Amino acid sequence: MGLGRHKLVVLAVVLSITVLLYLLLPSGQSEDEVHKAEVPRSDPQSNANISVRTATLAGDWPTFYRETVPRYDGGGREVRGRVFAVLLLHGQAFTSKTWEDLGTLNILAEHGYRAVAIDLPGYGESMHALPMSSEKGRTEYLLHVMESLGTRQPVLISPSMSGLFSLPLLLQHPDRLKGFVPIAPVGTKSFKAQQYQQIQVPSLVVYGTRDTNLGSQSLESLQLLPNHTLSPLEGAGHACYLDHPEEFHAALLMFLSKLS
Ligand SMILES: *[C@@H]1O[C@H](CO)[C@@H](O)[C@H](O)[C@H]1NC(C)=O
Ligand SMILES: *[C@@H]1O[C@H](CO)[C@@H](O)[C@H](O)[C@H]1NC(C)=O
Repeated sequence: MGLGRHKLVVLAVVLSITVLLYLLLPSGQSEDEVHKAEVPRSDPQSNANISVRTATLAGDWPTFYRETVPRYDGGGREVRGRVFAVLLLHGQAFTSKTWEDLGTLNILAEHGYRAVAIDLPGYGESMHALPMSSEKGRTEYLLHVMESLGTRQPVLISPSMSGLFSLPLLLQHPDRLKGFVPIAPVGTKSFKAQQYQQIQVPSLVVYGTRDTNLGSQSLESLQLLPNHTLSPLEGAGHACYLDHPEEFHAALLMFLSKLS
């Protein structure tokens, strides 16, 4: 009997703490925050065949309740809990590690974003995964990645080859992107002008001014997106973010700050 009462007391205490914690959490959390506990850095089950790389800052999912850079709304009040995910794809000759080496993952995390880079199927540590030969397959793959990461509406950064994945997603599921950052993506000509003109997703179109091939080619289609901002990197080539990382990061942060 005494033991039973003791258990009840423990239960009551645990319940109160749970309720208290719930009430103390900042309001207006994003769905990404809610999911963070369910997405360990490399869960082999939920991330089957998805190689994920995140910031290497202390804490790894660093700033869900503590934004290092405070953000303010129009009235000057501090805005909390508006963190969203930035999902980084990569080009043919690169992997998720490119974003780590360039410092992009850490810079994004330092600014309060949940930055996640993946190795696309057939690349880097996703070498063993089946290559995706169809547009539908690649779209479903990205939707699956987003689901595994617990993010419904990330900002998608997509250089070069990864356009094969990102463009079908953008054009068929625009509601699933908070923002789009194409960097001279391949595959823009697979879609009609009219399709681009219907997409309201805020987009930052990044390209190197020396990239006269894919850079200028993709620009023809991407500047049809109604809500786009151009970010030419002067004197940079195709992998313009590698040539001018500081300008790239500055343009990216400016774009992201307008999305919350
Ligand atoms: C995932 O990888 C395993 C091998 O480890 C492979 O058999 C399977 O087909 C892959 N699944 C996908 C969807 O790529
Ligand atoms: C265009 O995108 C910006 C963010 O870059 C956003 O603030 C603005 O509301 C968007 N405009 C329209 C018409 O959707």
